[in-house]
Amino acid sequence: MYSEKVMETFKNPKNVGEVENYNAIGTVGNASCGDIMQITLRIEDDVIKDAKFKTFGCAAAIASSSVATDMIIGKTVEEALNIKNKDVVQTLEGLPPQKIHCSVLAEEAIKEAIENYRKNNGGK
Ligand code: FES
Repeated sequence: MYSEKVMETFKNPKNVGEVENYNAIGTVGNASCGDIMQITLRIEDDVIKDAKFKTFGCAAAIASSSVATDMIIGKTVEEALNIKNKDVVQTLEGLPPQKIHCSVLAEEAIKEAIENYRKNNGGK
């Protein structure tokens, strides 16, 4: 049911773990499946220098976390906020309909982490 890209990314995910000296953290969950995704970021001069994830979830959630963190590294905070779950789905060459929410978790975790960063930096 998964694309080859999802399976490949699930088997060899990138950016797993926690960024050392992170200054942004976002944790989100989906109540219906119980999966949890945490993203940590190192933001310097408004640019995302590093991003890592810890996901306790399904293959689609892990693959989504991997491509989403990959997509935001090197981007500005504003650019990262513009990344939508459909971009994640596209990069993964599609997700089954019942797995779309897994990609939404990635979008939400990025937003949550950036919100956390802004809160800790005087709302900039
Ligand atoms: Fe819920 Fe994948 S089944 S995140």
